[in-house]
Amino acid sequence: MKTKIQEQFEKLYGDGASLFASPGRVNLIGEHTDYNLGFVLPGAIDKAIYVAVKPNDGKVCRLHSVDYDETIEMDIHGEKPEKQWAQYIYGVANEMEKRGALIRPFDMVFGGDVPLGAGLSSSAALESAVGFALNTIYDLGFGREQLAKIGQMTEHNYVGVRCGIMDQFASLFGEAGHVIRLDCRSLEYKLEPFDPQGCKVVLFDTKVKHTLASSEYNVRRAQCEAGVAVVLRHVGGVESLRDVTMDMLDAYKGEMEEVVYRRCRYVIEENQRLLDACAALEKGDYVTFGQKMNGSHDGLSKDYEVSCAELDFLADVARTNSGVLGARMMGGGFGGCTINLVRAEAYADFLEEISDKFSHRFGQTPRIIEVNISQGAHRIA
Ligand code: GLA
Repeated sequence: MKTKIQEQFEKLYGDGASLFASPGRVNLIGEHTDYNLGFVLPGAIDKAIYVAVKPNDGKVCRLHSVDYDETIEMDIHGEKPEKQWAQYIYGVANEMEKRGALIRPFDMVFGGDVPLGAGLSSSAALESAVGFALNTIYDLGFGREQLAKIGQMTEHNYVGVRCGIMDQFASLFGEAGHVIRLDCRSLEYKLEPFDPQGCKVVLFDTKVKHTLASSEYNVRRAQCEAGVAVVLRHVGGVESLRDVTMDMLDAYKGEMEEVVYRRCRYVIEENQRLLDACAALEKGDYVTFGQKMNGSHDGLSKDYEVSCAELDFLADVARTNSGVLGARMMGGGFGGCTINLVRAEAYADFLEEISDKFSHRFGQTPRIIEVNISQGAHRIA
């Protein structure tokens, strides 16, 4: 893939480009907790967006997407481009300028092997790759944390998704063989070795496309904020669900809509599940870890209601297989993938069972995606 990006750049804009990569991510547990300032446990994966870039002497940027086979010109001080892929680049450049950077026109070719719309954060990978690339070639001096916020604000201000910081953080801070236990309030993080000996991590893509922007994602965020507002009427200093305990939530349950109560309960419980899962991880206890993953799916499906029939089906089939330690839907939801922790000896049979049962029920096989936990954003050449 990276050579294809480089070759395409040479063909369109000549030689001398620098090449960068920033990966997609998985998240083992801690879903919809990031924008509630809780904890997440993502890792960067061995599938990335590659960006070839070089300053040009013109007045506008020239951009080419290899995956969409589209080329446009873009003035970062002009109108927002119509193509969504270009909006990410426009957004990142503008967020950088808001923070004092000067972005001169550039030529850019990008593409990658992060499956689109599968919940592996291809958009965060693009934002992180573009941010990391521009930061390096123009020597802008942003740290990785600032680059993550630049990516997140691109989603908020140019794409319209009020996402948390998990995806961009994982894409920028990932390390091979480690997951990142990130506290989304302080942005303190710990790299936890993730080495489930004798087990494999596999994703099943339902191929159901989710459109977070137009969907329920922002509604969920607003419901959580509504719950916080109720508690704040009684308890001073409460800023997010991170500050709310189950006792507090139960005490003021009568003042909130039932659905708001359930959304908040899920988030509070998910934070605790993540902490318990990390304690298990540190002891190498992947059985308990898997049980927490299962609990996460149940909460997402029943209380948070961001699952769908295909994801529930995959999680249910996984649960009846004794070789599977844990399975859950991953990411924003309404489609995309499940993540499964499977014993190596049961792996082949499990893949067959899932494919057979899923295609029998939904008329097509799920896409099987094997992932390795890998390095975050970096320069290649
Ligand atoms: C999407 C968002 C993230 C996070 C997850 C759910 O991937 O971009 O910020 O909220 O959904 O955990």
